[in-house]
Amino acid sequence: MRQATVYIDRAALQYNLNRVRQLAPTAKIVSMVKANAYGHGVKDCLAALQDSDAFGVACLQEALEIRELGFQQPITLIEGVFTEDEMPIVIEQNIEIVVHQPEQVTWLIAHKDAYISKNLKVWVKLNSGMNRLGFKLEVIKEVIQQLKSAGFTCVLAMHFANADADHPLNDEQIRQFLEVKNDCAPILASCCNSAAIYKYPELHFDFVRPGIMLYGATPFADRDIYALDLKPVMTFSAEIIALNEIQAGEQVGYGSTFTADKAMQLAIVSIGYGDGYPRAFFAQNFVAIKGQKAAVVGRVAMDMIAIDVTGLDVQLGTEVELWGKQRLVDDVAAANGTIGYELLCRLTQRPDRKVI
Ligand SMILES: Cc1ncc(COP(=O)(O)O)c(C=O)c1O
Repeated sequence: MRQATVYIDRAALQYNLNRVRQLAPTAKIVSMVKANAYGHGVKDCLAALQDSDAFGVACLQEALEIRELGFQQPITLIEGVFTEDEMPIVIEQNIEIVVHQPEQVTWLIAHKDAYISKNLKVWVKLNSGMNRLGFKLEVIKEVIQQLKSAGFTCVLAMHFANADADHPLNDEQIRQFLEVKNDCAPILASCCNSAAIYKYPELHFDFVRPGIMLYGATPFADRDIYALDLKPVMTFSAEIIALNEIQAGEQVGYGSTFTADKAMQLAIVSIGYGDGYPRAFFAQNFVAIKGQKAAVVGRVAMDMIAIDVTGLDVQLGTEVELWGKQRLVDDVAAANGTIGYELLCRLTQRPDRKVI
């Protein structure tokens, strides 16, 4: 059988969740499990993340999946509802919503009694310069006032555009957030994703919203997971299905883009972009075999890659790590001009999934 496997290390997930607790001991943790737990498989991850105070997802379908799996923790819909007919469902299923548009406020108020009777908080999003979702500074105070007067418990929420970097917008976003928090006091507050959890301990407030750090990948371009004391959760691996010797001058793969400059031992591995392995034409990719590096040569195809195993002790069935503990997903991402988030999320359904 084809062996392409995504292993999920439950202990690593719990370790990373504990890291959030250490870093933000007084805040509640909203573990972000959207996009199928960043590609890790929401079903497998929820159990390991049971000690979270809440889960965060991007849409109602993702929230309902959590409920169907039997998890009763609070859930926050970070983009809110998209139509009013989702309101009775969120209320029935005890799901909290973000509001970032006037229409959502109208829908919420129309379902006020039922929402409040379930003790659900409403997350009111500030647009402090990212210009995706949220009410601008000039209007949010009035929205919060309106919701508080109607009896809602509000959480002031914001998302950084550059928490992973030193950028002048950070100070401006913080200034606006603190102004609203102060002017609308008392109010619950939440503005930290993974990078901000590390960077702004003074801004943890009531709820932190870690995503990528839970999965053991870095939110920063210049700090790896060892510097952050995180453990990689996913190991993506496949097996060698063919071995070929080629001579200097012979070429490999589609487009014959690679020409051997010496005699080489090639291994063909059963993995490709059909599984989610990246095919960036400029990338120099490596895989890991028993702690040693092997270069990917030629183009990544849908189901196969070729690697240079000259001098390595390999045979049919030898396991190759595409990313995981030996070769960090962040390093593979950097080599492919992207971020760990994307590689993790865009894995396909084809690889087998196993929890270890
Ligand atoms: C509103 C919000 N909060 C928190 C997160 C988690 O971010 P990260 O994965 O960088 O920790 C996200 C991710 O996109 C988000 O959109």
